[in-house]
Amino acid sequence: MPNGENPKKTIAVIGGTGKEGGGLALRWAYAGYPIIIGSRSAEKAEQAAAQVNELLGKQAALGMDNPSAARQAELIVVSVPYAAHQDTLNAIKAEVTGKVVVDVTVPIQPPNFSTVHLPEGRTAAEEARALLGEGVRLVSAFQNVSAVHLKDLNHQVNCDVLVTGDDAEAKQEVIALAEAAGMHGIDAGPLVNAIVAESLTPMLVGINRRYKVKSAGIRITDLDGQGHD
Ligand SMILES: NC(=O)c1ccc[n+]([C@@H]2O[C@H](COP(=O)([O-])OP(=O)(O)OC[C@H]3O[C@@H](n4cnc5c(N)ncnc54)[C@H](OP(=O)(O)O)[C@@H]3O)[C@@H](O)[C@H]2O)c1
Repeated sequence: MPNGENPKKTIAVIGGTGKEGGGLALRWAYAGYPIIIGSRSAEKAEQAAAQVNELLGKQAALGMDNPSAARQAELIVVSVPYAAHQDTLNAIKAEVTGKVVVDVTVPIQPPNFSTVHLPEGRTAAEEARALLGEGVRLVSAFQNVSAVHLKDLNHQVNCDVLVTGDDAEAKQEVIALAEAAGMHGIDAGPLVNAIVAESLTPMLVGINRRYKVKSAGIRITDLDGQGHD
């Protein structure tokens, strides 16, 4: 654990060397969470962690191979391309029993980045549940957050985060992580509802293209019942 005295949970970001996971890892490190960046290559993970530490001017992140990262963390975030989803989950499966696992994966089928693709198991989240088993506290979130501005800590990420899962406490933890990263987490119901968030992402990619923008997102309005968002 990077900081033994920190009461915040240590988060492993599997695929934290990439765009989405790297941005989330940086924001959580900035918010004071001990971070472990996971990669298929320990060396690549160490380099990514060193970049986070340099940017923040403190020792906030470590880098490890994926199974070691999952073993040493209390909460695990999986942020890898769908094509690597199954292999990645198999690599960490033995290390995640009893832990909160947050799946960010969207079942996009390149090169059709703006077309909804429902995989054999209906959603990446449900495939993760089938593969990891019921002993894992699985939550699905962050699919609709564009990576584009995540690494700019001065940028207010202007979107909500749909959080789905069947473990109410785990979902609340992830809603708190969305807030820590500067966004608003919304309890969007059970894990089967992840089909909505996973399907929205390719739609947002298409909206980005058509409107010549880079980070279209979503907002749930009227949460205060007063007509304000
Ligand atoms: N980018 C976005 O704006 C965005 C927004 C919302 C959701 N998402 C979703 O978040 C997930 C991660 O997206 P991303 O854009 O961060 O992806 P990415 O940068 O292309 O890849 C993330 C990491 O996945 C790991 N990986 C493992 N197996 C891989 C393989 N076979 N091919 C390529 N990379 C592999 C790589 O880490 P190592 O090489 O270090 O193992 C890589 O750094 C995806 O499911 C994506 O659909 C992305």
